[in-house]
Amino acid sequence: MSSSQYLERRGEIETYFDRTAAATWARLTSDAPVSGIRATVRAGRDRMRATLLDWLPASLHGLRLLDAGCGTGAFATAAARRGAQVLAIDLSPTLVQLARERCDAEADAALLRERITFRAGDMRAPDDGDFDHVVAMDSLIHYQPEDAAALVAAWSARVRGSLLFTIAPRTPLLAAMHRVGKLFPRGDRAPAIVPVAPARLQAQLLLAMPRWQAGRSQRVASGFYTSQACEWTPRSAS
Ligand SMILES: C[S@@+](CC[C@H](N)C(=O)[O-])C[C@H]1O[C@@H](n2cnc3c(N)ncnc32)[C@H](O)[C@@H]1O
Repeated sequence: MSSSQYLERRGEIETYFDRTAAATWARLTSDAPVSGIRATVRAGRDRMRATLLDWLPASLHGLRLLDAGCGTGAFATAAARRGAQVLAIDLSPTLVQLARERCDAEADAALLRERITFRAGDMRAPDDGDFDHVVAMDSLIHYQPEDAAALVAAWSARVRGSLLFTIAPRTPLLAAMHRVGKLFPRGDRAPAIVPVAPARLQAQLLLAMPRWQAGRSQRVASGFYTSQACEWTPRSAS
């Protein structure tokens, strides 16, 4: 799973989120005012987080959850408040530190500290044991489909409950925008989002993890934010 393509992209993502865009990302994920375009992204991401939280059991007490690519920790915090023991990992030490500080500033900081372990590192987390749920919100979207599928398949061997992740769905309109975007130099050095045809990814995952099945799917579109939530569960659980 450590393909050179994956490692190269992982390095670009780390540079982007840890340095180039750390301040922008900190602001986007705060309550501070943002421009109209970013406000649509923030609203879309809030809806996406609510969707993924809704797909988890109402009570997460006694359950272990991996927040894969946790960013500034919003999902981990919400899951911990519902009882989960959360391992929250992100490539960016800057964002992980900010996530810790945000938790420490909350009224229930003691509870959050007890339930969330924040760590800078690779979200594959191969040596961290089993989980009840893995959630990867918008953290697979910069990888080639085969690398995203390999990550999900690797988690599946260690997950009892569900795998929840988002993809950037490839639609004809988004594919056209992507092609046009490629004609221009990338001003902000953001690693490109890789649009994925949901059916193609599903076929890849079924091959890689035959004992799992696709569950709910929900697209969230809000201005400049388009993302599709995907749920996978073990077949034996149905
Ligand atoms: C678009 S942000 C989303 C953050 C968070 N999940 C959220 O929704 O607020 C993507 C995050 O995934 C992290 N990420 C991407 N690939 C990763 C990897 N292989 N291991 C750990 N974190 C990763 C990035 O550093 C970045 O913080």
